[in-house]
Amino acid sequence: MEIKKVGVVGCGLMGSGIVETAAKAGFPVVVREVSDELLKKGRSRIEVSLSRAVEKQKATPQDKEAALGRITGTTRLADLADCDLVIEAVIENMEEKKKLFKELDATAKPSALFASNTSSLPITDMAAVTKRAPNFVGLHFFNPVPVMKLVEVVKTVMTSEEAFRNVKAFAEKLGKTVVVAKDTPGFVVNLLLVPYLLDAVRAYENGVASREDIDNGMVLGCGHPMGPLTLLDFVGIDTTYYIAEIMFDEFKDDHYAAPPLMRRLVAAGFWGRKTGRGIYEYDEKGNKK
Ligand code: CAA
Repeated sequence: MEIKKVGVVGCGLMGSGIVETAAKAGFPVVVREVSDELLKKGRSRIEVSLSRAVEKQKATPQDKEAALGRITGTTRLADLADCDLVIEAVIENMEEKKKLFKELDATAKPSALFASNTSSLPITDMAAVTKRAPNFVGLHFFNPVPVMKLVEVVKTVMTSEEAFRNVKAFAEKLGKTVVVAKDTPGFVVNLLLVPYLLDAVRAYENGVASREDIDNGMVLGCGHPMGPLTLLDFVGIDTTYYIAEIMFDEFKDDHYAAPPLMRRLVAAGFWGRKTGRGIYEYDEKGNKK
């Protein structure tokens, strides 16, 4: 079965990036949010990003308008009934995801493939609450989705070869490079990235160096586009903390234990760039102060 129409559930940071990328690649996309207000916010994020793509000469103004024309917003899951692939990008909470997939299973067409954009929760647990486990995969994008070239496609022990091949071909049509991962916590990238980010916070907390010098060390010494503490603010300290907790629960290994400073920042609401303060402070445009 060829994937022709795409559904996305959630139009936050990751969801809106997935919607934009699929629409830019020519797919009609239906995106569901829980309120009109969140849909409006998501759509304006997509418009800003598409305008930036035009500025950067990655797209023409016509491409932008065509992509926007392929996007339909809705607050009803039933409107995703004729989608060939439904990608979930809601909050990283297993109970929420299971509830959503149960509902989707009842409303989506029987042949539809399901994918979760989770960064660390077990795909198998979500697939198991549906009647279509063979048609269920992980499809993990990276932030910012329109820019980052990678997608992890996650195969569970129940995923059929056909579903896997279909979703992999879809990711390639989006212009992404695929890495194939097993359904283990953090897949490939976060398995390596999360302990690195936690170690950077530990280094800062222990006074090894200033936040700027820790970041400059990795930017100038290793050629990373962002230092770890800037990247942590960019990904979200809350998000990284929740991923670390999931990995710690699974592996019971101190390597994945969130350092105390990180817990305090999460409790304080200093979640990084999106809240105006994390390890660094930011202005309304998201630039470091
Ligand atoms: N649409 C399309 N292309 C765009 C674009 C847009 N809206 N905005 C920028 N671009 C393109 C630019 O044209 C440029 O392309 P070229 O390299 O071909 O010139 C490229 O993207 C970089 O853009 P900029 O030069 O404007 O931006 P920058 O140099 O400041 O880089 C960044 C910004 C891409 C975010 C870079 O800092 C970076 O790569 N940071 C690391 C991000 C990262 O590691 N993300 C993964 C986080 S982990 C995750 O997401 C998974 C998880 O589960 C937690």
